[in-house]
Amino acid sequence: MVLNCLEVEVAGLKFKNPVLLAAGILGITAESLVRVAEAGAGGLVTKSIGLKPRRGYPNPTVVQVNCGLINAMGLPNPGIKAFSEEIREVKKRTEIPLIVSVYGYSAEEFAETAKQAIEAGADAVELNVSCPHVEKTGGEIGQNPELLKEVVGKVKDRISKPLLVKLSPNVSDIAHLAEVAVKAGADAITAINTVRAMKIDVRTGHPILANKTGGLSGPAIKPIAVRCIYEIYERVKVPIFGCGGISNWRDAIEFILAGASAVQVGTAVAVKGLEVFRAITKGMEAYVKRRGFKSVEEIVGLSHSL
Ligand SMILES: Cc1cc2nc3c(=O)[nH]c(=O)nc-3n(C[C@H](O)[C@H](O)[C@H](O)COP(=O)(O)O)c2cc1C
Repeated sequence: MVLNCLEVEVAGLKFKNPVLLAAGILGITAESLVRVAEAGAGGLVTKSIGLKPRRGYPNPTVVQVNCGLINAMGLPNPGIKAFSEEIREVKKRTEIPLIVSVYGYSAEEFAETAKQAIEAGADAVELNVSCPHVEKTGGEIGQNPELLKEVVGKVKDRISKPLLVKLSPNVSDIAHLAEVAVKAGADAITAINTVRAMKIDVRTGHPILANKTGGLSGPAIKPIAVRCIYEIYERVKVPIFGCGGISNWRDAIEFILAGASAVQVGTAVAVKGLEVFRAITKGMEAYVKRRGFKSVEEIVGLSHSL
């Protein structure tokens, strides 16, 4: 039997490799999610879905900057009722774990949306308590320990599948918020969401995004993400899904050495195309074998003991 050195089990979910699609990129239809699965991703995270449909912001919603993108999409989504059809379709056509990202304006909304996602067939739920550009949800919840505890606790009571909590880097102590989430019932932490940012057109003097500010993603935020994961790993026992600026296998390995058990890739998929999944996993596999490890699991958090 040939052992797959990239196979991992994280928070009770089995992945054929630890390179997942991040929330918000190609994650809004079954068709695009199936394409990502066929391109070799180890798992799928959907676009963040709310209880009701939401239109999102007018254009421009994305602007390219040095080494990254700034986006303020405004969480456009069809609502969980319509999206449940997409979930069922993905589960019919793929075997890899499907994690549905959810957001809400109250603990009850988060819990109800999460429950409906699981009923439709999601293997796990990721709470987006870290979106930096929509008021009264996202970052406003994830930056407030009391609200975070209430939301995570309520969702945990309502579902019996793994619960991931995605944190924002726009705080002074991300590891403390990870501790709060874990105490309230999180089975894993995802870190990080985008970093608050802005771009102004020097010809007109106007902010470029319709929402003025947005979230920075891509290689520009990678060192911030690595630091966040390193700090979270030292403070909580649950596994970490690392995210933020990964575009090649070296980046992915760096996240795993910092303490991530698996990684998620967003902007690189938008910029480089679906080939990134195979390129990253091929490079990771070669690295693990070259270094004489049997499994990628052996190098999770290794940099903490060196
Ligand atoms: C266009 C775009 C849309 C995004 N939408 C979501 C979303 O709906 N929910 C969420 O949790 N994160 C969302 N994100 C954040 C990504 O999932 C990820 O945390 C972040 O972009 C950092 O990873 P990356 O540098 O690999 O893109 C979005 C990012 C981008 C660029």
